Amino acid sequence: NGCTVAAPGSVANLVCGFDVLGLCLSAPADLMDFRILDEPKLIIKSADGYPLPENPAENTAGAPIIEMMKELDNTIGFEITIHKKIKPGSGIGSSAASAAGAVVGVNHLLGNKFTKEQLIEFAMFGEKVASGVKHADNIAPVVYGGVTLIRSVAPLDIIPLKSPNLHVTIVHPQIEVRTADARAILRRDVSLKSAIRQWGNVGGLVAGILMEDNALIGRSLQDEIIEPVRSILIPGFKDVKLKCIAAGALGGGISGSGPSIFMLSETEEIAKNVEKVMQDEFTKLGIDYYTYVTFIN
Ligand code: HSE
Repeated sequence: NGCTVAAPGSVANLVCGFDVLGLCLSAPADLMDFRILDEPKLIIKSADGYPLPENPAENTAGAPIIEMMKELDNTIGFEITIHKKIKPGSGIGSSAASAAGAVVGVNHLLGNKFTKEQLIEFAMFGEKVASGVKHADNIAPVVYGGVTLIRSVAPLDIIPLKSPNLHVTIVHPQIEVRTADARAILRRDVSLKSAIRQWGNVGGLVAGILMEDNALIGRSLQDEIIEPVRSILIPGFKDVKLKCIAAGALGGGISGSGPSIFMLSETEEIAKNVEKVMQDEFTKLGIDYYTYVTFIN
């Protein structure tokens, strides 16, 4: 009556696909331990002293389980102990890892009573707690793996694409960007000209993933709607991006709502060169950072 789940980070948006595309990372991942309780109670604990909201309703792992428990008869409850490895506010899906990990773990204890789509519906309540918006572009790739397209959130329509054989380099500069703030600064209106280029790129990226055409993936990783606004919040963004691409990356940009920057590369060697570029740039800027070289899970 217990289990442990590894809930990995994720990269939402994939540059051109704001709120509709996301990929699942292999690392870093939160570890979550689950235990069934014989009363209808929900307890969320932090394993390593990392401060998490104790009230389950205010917790990104708790809110989805509260929704899930409304569908169960009132006889059992759950205790979830979280080893938080993905830093909140990093832009690599910290809240989604907690939310998706929680619903997957509890569902496992329930003998997989709920479908993946139902799990995503529950997990979106966690994103609502974290950022005020029920977006699924981090949760869906964590639940399905690989790259997912969220064609629609209401009604939910998720298309799992593929897991491209690509390496991912991430730099997490130690500056704070709250998702809610990074959404509030976006323009509400988009010109038809920009929209045409954007859906050209989204279509190109999806086709590139399905056709395993890395050059097409690379040239589709462009965004003229969100990136120009949000990149202002990330010192050095433009230079880092240009230098990573010069070092051989296919392309990349802001990971989720930032401040992390991700780059996709065809080989591990290139991914490591890209990491070096990121490290040099943020060292020059005098900003502390973490880097990860990983792959799409
Ligand atoms: N699609 C969301 C955003 C992801 O960019 O605001 C947040 O991690």
